[in-house]
Amino acid sequence: MVDISKAFEKEHLEKENVEPTEAGLTGGLDDHLYMYHMPYSYTSEQIRKIRTHIFHAPGGERKRIIMVTSSLPSEGKSLIASNLAIAIAKGEDQHVLLVECDLRRPALQELFHYPPTAGLSEIIQGKRSIADCLIKTPIDKLTILSSAKEAPANPSELLESKNLGTLIDEVAQRYPDRFVIIDTPPVQATVDPKIIADHVEGIIFVTRYRYTRTTDFKMALNTLPREKIMGIVLNAVDVMPAQKFKYRKYSYHKYY
Ligand SMILES: Nc1ncnc2c1ncn2[C@@H]1O[C@H](COP(=O)(O)OP(=O)(O)O)[C@@H](O)[C@H]1O
Ligand SMILES: [Mg+2]
Repeated sequence: MVDISKAFEKEHLEKENVEPTEAGLTGGLDDHLYMYHMPYSYTSEQIRKIRTHIFHAPGGERKRIIMVTSSLPSEGKSLIASNLAIAIAKGEDQHVLLVECDLRRPALQELFHYPPTAGLSEIIQGKRSIADCLIKTPIDKLTILSSAKEAPANPSELLESKNLGTLIDEVAQRYPDRFVIIDTPPVQATVDPKIIADHVEGIIFVTRYRYTRTTDFKMALNTLPREKIMGIVLNAVDVMPAQKFKYRKYSYHKYY
């Protein structure tokens, strides 16, 4: 582990040739990025409502460093974080950095189709600078920071270290004019969202219609700082019956 502030100074890094990465290199952007493919669909309209809520939150300053979390896997965190990031980037003159903080089951690479790219893990280990890891996307003003080029063997240790919080703070300071949208793992599976929550200004909590049990919902919500919760998103209200819905057959829980 290194002092994360050093990660910003290139002279402290072992210099390797770093090729800039772009989204869309390994295929077109995923169909679930509704804000990109179908900006006038019903779902995009709902995403824009979340954006409006962020831009015009009642009272106080606009919150800029925002995490998206939920109680369980597969409630739609990554989907909402990604579409929201696109919506903000397409909105006013706002730059957005979308950060993949789920090291165990990263989803952004599949949604935005970029090759395996160094990110949080390598920055925390002092192998890369943030600037080296930024991924360009076809959406003007939207940049992505990946979780890792290769899944780290010890994600908990890496994230539980003070360095994750410090890294978020540094990103916030380094890009003072940007929105930072952080996609996280579920609260019930790991301690990561609680660590991240201490370093963000706002939290968007996702819950999935007819999927999340009230007890899970409440338990997760109670572990987060209430004053930071900006809103609760009820996801997938109008989806098809569960058996028709396209769940992928992975066993997500076992990774946690
Ligand atoms: N509103 C939605 N409409 C269609 N598919 C959805 C919706 N929300 C989630 N999904 C699908 O459900 C799966 C889990 O979503 P994801 O965003 O990866 O969840 P999480 O990040 O909470 O684990 C993905 O295959 C995603 O495409
Ligand atoms: Mg996810």
